Amino acid sequence: MRTILVASSKGGAGKSTVVTNLAAHFALEGKRTVLVDADRQESSSHWCAKRAGLDSAVLPVDGSRRGWEKQLPSDTQYVVIDAAAGAMADDLDAHLALADAVLVPVNPSMIDLEATVPFLDSLAALPRVKKGKLPVALVANRLKPWTGASQQAVAQLQSWPYPLVGQLRDTQAYVLMVALGKSVFDYHSEQIRGHQADWAPLLKWLKKVL
Ligand SMILES: Nc1ncnc2c1ncn2[C@@H]1O[C@H](COP(=O)(O)OP(=O)(O)OP(=O)(O)O)[C@@H](O)[C@H]1O
Ligand SMILES: [Mg+2]
Repeated sequence: MRTILVASSKGGAGKSTVVTNLAAHFALEGKRTVLVDADRQESSSHWCAKRAGLDSAVLPVDGSRRGWEKQLPSDTQYVVIDAAAGAMADDLDAHLALADAVLVPVNPSMIDLEATVPFLDSLAALPRVKKGKLPVALVANRLKPWTGASQQAVAQLQSWPYPLVGQLRDTQAYVLMVALGKSVFDYHSEQIRGHQADWAPLLKWLKKVL
């Protein structure tokens, strides 16, 4: 079983967007995939419910209750965890204990960048992260690559001590697809293939570290 925790103390960074798209990617590869939704807003669980009828359905587990680990079927291959908004590393003990990798989405604004630093510092203090046993990576989300703000944010993220493994564009496609229980990996138009390409470095990094 391979477990990816998607977390950021900053609300609206793209945790649920990254979690749902990653879960769909694994499920479409035929992997038995569970989405652990630790956020009481339940956005990701609602997405799973909309996807329930597909061959590539993703099983939702309520990660906000104690003992959620026991609900993971024994034949689970991939677990993707959507952390609660506002949680710092200390609040994520149970989720971090099971995680093999951590992804931290960040929006390209100074407010978001500055708000993410204390969260990354709280991760850096964890013994498994210090020893290099729990890989952590950044995902820039909602980029408008032609703007100075996005370019500066990417340059800044590249100077941080964790690798920047994903650069996801700002597109209504994510807003529309999450409402349908879908992901960029469910479609094959030329436009959507461009968005799929944004995920390639992130998927490659996961393959390497998991
Ligand atoms: N790349 C993107 N392009 C356009 N819209 C996006 C993108 N990523 C996320 N969004 C939208 O931004 C909003 C916040 O994203 P999301 O819900 O994934 O963040 P979150 O970190 O899970 O938020 P919360 O902290 O509230 O749980 C949502 O409306 C989502 O559809
Ligand atoms: Mg969310």
